[in-house]
Amino acid sequence: MISLTVNKLRGLSFTADSTLSGAIKTWVIVALAGQWAFAMYILSLYALPLILGAVDKAEKVSPTQGLNSNIDLNSAMFFAHVLPAILMAMSGLFQLIPNVRTRYPKFHRYNGRMFFSLGLAGAFTGLYLTWITGHRLSDIGSLGVTVNGILIPIAIYFAWQAAVKKRFAQHQRFAVHSFLLVNGVWTFRLYLMGWYIVNQGMNGNTRTLDGPADIALSFASFLLPMAIYEVILWGKKQRKDSIKWVISAVACFGVLITIVGVLAAGMMMWLPRISDILSVLF
Ligand code: HEM
Repeated sequence: MISLTVNKLRGLSFTADSTLSGAIKTWVIVALAGQWAFAMYILSLYALPLILGAVDKAEKVSPTQGLNSNIDLNSAMFFAHVLPAILMAMSGLFQLIPNVRTRYPKFHRYNGRMFFSLGLAGAFTGLYLTWITGHRLSDIGSLGVTVNGILIPIAIYFAWQAAVKKRFAQHQRFAVHSFLLVNGVWTFRLYLMGWYIVNQGMNGNTRTLDGPADIALSFASFLLPMAIYEVILWGKKQRKDSIKWVISAVACFGVLITIVGVLAAGMMMWLPRISDILSVLF
């Protein structure tokens, strides 16, 4: 009886490897919830009003400067920028799930091509809206997202090249970086709202997003997830248990900030605006 219980407890015991794999799985589930919440937000705030011919109603709810009911190039650019984000947020994460990749290789290929094409378009239209149309809250506060936008085509180029040449390890590495870069703007919302929650309000932030905390978060929104991913890749090759535990702790930290961010952005940004726009539209 006692040995049975001991064996059961052993089965439950954590190892550094199982903790790391648990952290990665948890991150995928939390990120999926956050990505879908973001997709629902864009669908409700931008796609629905456009379909219903009620863009003027969405203007009152949207935080952006670019949304307006004019029929011109800038408005077309705005919608071309935001609407594809629905598809990317709904399906992008499936690219990273090993089971989906091995069981549905065709889906992986087509979904990947769509994600890369829309990611490239998102980067170029985003740079256009920021620096040509002038939809930015401040110059210095736009530097982070600009570097993010420049890195997206570079990472996608390497990921695509590696896939064509069937160098799968290299493809996976750059594809994950492409995913994290394309989602930099999503992560920024998570970090900013999470920062507000942790600090119980603004701390180093300004309304034009050019405070020291805003600038740090705008760079961290893509550099930190990319760094955590590189640390995990490196950690997976290590044999020392102590190093593996440190890597697992880093991954758990990544999960924790994602959970705080998804809850904060969901509660403070997305859900209130979804409810506002739906009550105005219907
Ligand atoms: C490819 C990944 C990207 C996605 C999925 C994405 C998604 C979005 C979404 C959903 C919005 C609406 C904002 C909201 O309602 O909260 C938006 C607006 C905007 N984005 Fe992006 N974005 C991406 C990349 C970029 C990049 C790289 C830049 C700049 C270099 C950028 C610049 C802008 C600008 C200027 C606006 C409009 C802001 C306004 O009119 O006030 N985006 N984007």
